Amino acid sequence: MPKVTVEGYGTFDVQEGTRLVRAIEKNGIDILHRCGGHAHCTTCRVEFLEGEPQRRTAAERDKLKEKGESGIRLSCQCLVEHDMTVRVLNTLQSTGLDSPGDTPEDHITPEPEWVPLSE
Ligand code: FES
Repeated sequence: MPKVTVEGYGTFDVQEGTRLVRAIEKNGIDILHRCGGHAHCTTCRVEFLEGEPQRRTAAERDKLKEKGESGIRLSCQCLVEHDMTVRVLNTLQSTGLDSPGDTPEDHITPEPEWVPLSE
């Protein structure tokens, strides 16, 4: 079973194929996902310290390009398929918002079209 390490929180066994945002939240970290996991809001952003997936969804690519962001990933668009270490950048506590957002579905939304990370 892959291990997900979240900086400052710990290391967790995660069922392979779990959406990263769900894995993080299930292990007690109040990560934001304000758009409900649809690659719209970017509040689920994480920084990979190790094990960054080498593919991403076209929705993630397009949103990060639109926002001019680099060096971060959208955890709602990543699957846990191997060991990884991440830094969570937005939590409910750190932002003072009243809600993390609607719970993302178990599967990636929108339907993923996978592209290489370099694209
Ligand atoms: S982009 Fe909104 S939850 Fe991931």
